[in-house]
Amino acid sequence: MEKGEKLYEGRTKILYSTSEPDHCLMYFKDKITTSAGKKQETIKNLGIYNAKISATLFELLSRAGIPTHYVATVGERELLVKKLDVLPLEFVVRNVVAGSLARRLGIEEGFQFIEPVVEYYYKRDDLGKPLLTESHLRALGIVEEEQLQACTIMAQQANLILKHYFARRGLLLVDTFFEFGFDGDELILCDEISPDTCRLWDSQTAERLDKDRFRRDLGGVGEAYQEVVARLLGEENWPGTQGPFC
Ligand code: TMP
Repeated sequence: MEKGEKLYEGRTKILYSTSEPDHCLMYFKDKITTSAGKKQETIKNLGIYNAKISATLFELLSRAGIPTHYVATVGERELLVKKLDVLPLEFVVRNVVAGSLARRLGIEEGFQFIEPVVEYYYKRDDLGKPLLTESHLRALGIVEEEQLQACTIMAQQANLILKHYFARRGLLLVDTFFEFGFDGDELILCDEISPDTCRLWDSQTAERLDKDRFRRDLGGVGEAYQEVVARLLGEENWPGTQGPFC
């Protein structure tokens, strides 16, 4: 497999074509940025941590029956992934109130929902990625009804699998972000799953081990991501499984 031309460069990742027409290479940079890109920083090895965490979580989800675009890890910061027709939608699943939802509803961060909340965002940077209701999606024809139902169910299932997996490692999955694409008729989970796209709190102390460390200038971003890698790949039994935030 040969690395080909650059297909797309985002703030934190680059997508390259490969000699295999159905596959692309996803390269993770050491960059971290806020969603509007106003603030950015380079953090040593961050791309390596995000590639490793994403590969581990995609493998977990595949084993649990959720199709993902992950094929193989090629270099320490490059994943071979399937080429897909990606939907122009972003799915956020929330188990606990935090971030934009805490601000929107005036609820304190940490409030636990009775059941996970699924939100839909229109993937339009020029509009600031607006929140859409199911009714908007239907009325605008952005996604077919059947596709929306299938994505919503898959997002809820993936959230549950990840939530239990993180809990066994002393981490509370506060919220998580998914993208989906199609390979022909097959619905596939894509993009990345990392502390850039999930909120992860230590279940004993509620210490933030995710991108909020950067968004809120808390420091220790690289150390937090490295800690997540250690918890996912280490053999330890984390005492936090029964912690106050689980
Ligand atoms: P929010 O609280 O800013 O709405 O974000 C909810 C979760 O979704 C959080 O873990 C960050 C993640 N997310 C992304 O990864 N990319 C995005 O573009 C957005 C809007 C959220």
